[in-house]
Amino acid sequence: MNYLSNLAKNYPASGIRKMFDLAAQYDDVVKLTVGEPNFDTPQNIKDAAKKAIDEGYTHYAPNAGLPELRAAIAKEYTKYCKDYTLDNVMITVGGMEAITMCMLATVNPGDEIIIPDPGFSNYEGQVMIAGAVPVSVPIYEENDFNITAADIEKAITPKTRAILLNSPSNPLGSIICKEEILKIAELVKKYDLIVYSDEVYDKLIFDGVEYFSIAQVPEVRDQVLVINSFSKAYAMTGWRIGYIVGNKDIIANMPKLQEGIVSCVSTFTQKAALEAYTGNQDAVDQMIADYLRRRDILIDGLNNIPGITCKKSPGSFYAFANIKALGVTSEEFAIDLVKKARVVVVPGSAFGSVGEGYFRAVFANSDENLIEAVKRIDEYVRETYLVEA
Ligand SMILES: Cc1ncc(COP(=O)(O)O)c(C=O)c1O
Repeated sequence: MNYLSNLAKNYPASGIRKMFDLAAQYDDVVKLTVGEPNFDTPQNIKDAAKKAIDEGYTHYAPNAGLPELRAAIAKEYTKYCKDYTLDNVMITVGGMEAITMCMLATVNPGDEIIIPDPGFSNYEGQVMIAGAVPVSVPIYEENDFNITAADIEKAITPKTRAILLNSPSNPLGSIICKEEILKIAELVKKYDLIVYSDEVYDKLIFDGVEYFSIAQVPEVRDQVLVINSFSKAYAMTGWRIGYIVGNKDIIANMPKLQEGIVSCVSTFTQKAALEAYTGNQDAVDQMIADYLRRRDILIDGLNNIPGITCKKSPGSFYAFANIKALGVTSEEFAIDLVKKARVVVVPGSAFGSVGEGYFRAVFANSDENLIEAVKRIDEYVRETYLVEA
């Protein structure tokens, strides 16, 4: 049809959505598909929203967000830079808008943005919205699913403007180690690039693993925009609130764009987010403890199935399991698994071509569901594939 823009015509379809639609045709399915907490938003956060509505926080907020929320976030991020103030913070409609906003504020049509493969399936489309060109960099299991500076450098051209890093990673569950971050920072300096550091899972880290952000490298800090969200750590996916932290000269230009996109983030939602950030953290600590136990139920279970291997994810709530020994494509596997075993996972190929031979499973689910899912996958694999036990 002729009325559509090239963007609408070419926008990539979500491979996750496809599995979702397939699963809807069956009863009694265990869904390990959607990347969201299975917990409800903690009560103190809900109460703060209700109170804010009653107190009249029902009008437009400033484009950049409520000053008290921006200041609270800036205070937290003094862990990255002691000089950060509210001028270094922009409030957005979830991490999703934060990513798009970073791109709209810093790239011009035709610029190239480096994105991870396998990577969050929305990145490619977001780069397209900004009129830029996505360039994928492969991430390999041999490197503990760490993106490497060497692979990034191979993808750099004179048109490269920015690199998108995601740690902890969706879908890989990996955390980029400090050593590699420092090497990437050298490239950022050498080629004068911008970094979008998507850290929306930074509170979901297990086993005492050290988290190191590229924003902690003083030599490149002004070139880094950190993206974060209330969705994952505080079980607030439906509230739609996130933020960007970074160079105040870039941030200062974002409110103009925000005016034209959504004007502002819902005002009482910002009050609830302030409570999430500054209020009691017991519910968050409990969720993290539950995710850790659930990670082990799922990943230990998968590793006991012949033909499947899965690295222990140090962060996020995703497991990325290797099924190369089964000799099928990841899409064939995922579709057949729904039909025969009633378990829904996402084929690795939905996250980029390097994801072929893997599937992603979400462990933000109940212990019982995860135990049942492992049992069903185990029976299905043993019945369907000829693999050595
Ligand atoms: C890596 C990554 N970044 C950003 C987001 C965006 O989350 P939200 O817009 O809910 O904050 C997600 C959500 O799944 C994600 O996995």
